[in-house]
Amino acid sequence: MNLFFYIVLLTLGQTLGNRNCENASFKNSEIETLAINFTMPYQLAVDPNTNTLFFSYSLQNSEESFKIVYLDLNNQKRGEVTGISGGFAQTVDVKNRVVYLGGSDGIYQFDYETKSANRLNITKNSIWQMFFKEYLYYTISLNEEAYVYKDGVAAKVKQLENTRASLIAVDNNHNIYFANSSGLYVNDNDNAIKHIGDYIINGFTSDINGNIFFSTLDKIYSIISGTSVKQIIELNDIHGLAIDAKGNYIYSTYNTVKRLKLDVTNCS
Ligand SMILES: *[C@@H]1O[C@H](CO)[C@@H](O)[C@H](O)[C@H]1NC(C)=O
Ligand SMILES: *[C@@H]1O[C@H](CO)[C@@H](O)[C@H](O)[C@H]1NC(C)=O
Ligand SMILES: *[C@@H]1O[C@H](CO)[C@@H](O)[C@H](O)[C@H]1NC(C)=O
Ligand SMILES: *[C@@H]1O[C@H](CO)[C@@H](O)[C@H](O)[C@H]1NC(C)=O
Repeated sequence: MNLFFYIVLLTLGQTLGNRNCENASFKNSEIETLAINFTMPYQLAVDPNTNTLFFSYSLQNSEESFKIVYLDLNNQKRGEVTGISGGFAQTVDVKNRVVYLGGSDGIYQFDYETKSANRLNITKNSIWQMFFKEYLYYTISLNEEAYVYKDGVAAKVKQLENTRASLIAVDNNHNIYFANSSGLYVNDNDNAIKHIGDYIINGFTSDINGNIFFSTLDKIYSIISGTSVKQIIELNDIHGLAIDAKGNYIYSTYNTVKRLKLDVTNCS
């Protein structure tokens, strides 16, 4: 029994409110290793249309700094996305079936046929993170500025014009969540920025219902609404988080990608 499994057992009795399956539990959950020996897998995203996971990892001893991997969760087939420079970030427009990939010189679209990325004329900036919610939101490296690509035009997110933001997410109620080195904040419908907590966040994600989740180095949380946050589970060494179409948590450690398969026997 590995250490991760043991930790999961210790959290016995937790349930997942806020989900399709209210009574899924961690009690008999399994941890499955999806990929190993990738340094610092980061910015995980799942395309629920094809059940494909995307993540980036750091290259050592190479001119390029980052690469993006696609991994088909149906058959574990994986490979590196070609045609993108410094591939680092990913997000999915589920409705229009578009997988966006962010690199060191802008934003690309993934082509499932060729497993390559085609550059889109959106920005020349180096992309740090992306989040799709009706429109394409993204942050750029170094400057920590948040942008939105809407109706063919990329512009700074108005509500975050005067603040640094390295990570961004938007919920079903148009609340804009963002993180910088000072913590987690929300710009809600009052259009004021509120401090949620001093979390050191490494990733935002959403499930297929649009509920927002985030991870820190040792915990996964969900955002109930506005400034209300709920801890879901404690794990060792989390670097990034995504949620598959069944609600399982896919997370990365410093050199692996794993899936926490929830026990759904008590779901009705
Ligand atoms: C991972 O790397 C270690 C150390 O280099 C090696 O022993 C192991 O075989 C690798 N595993 C896989 C699945 O590549
Ligand atoms: C790319 O976008 C810019 C700014 O919107 C525009 O001026 C330019 O014509 C576009 N280039 C192409 C090749 O579409
Ligand atoms: C993070 O954002 C908050 C809210 O806008 C701001 O007060 C804080 O100064 C920012 N932190 C940094 C390091 O810029
Ligand atoms: C979850 O379990 C509780 C207590 O056993 C039960 O009352 C409730 O109906 C269950 N919810 C679902 C969606 O199955």
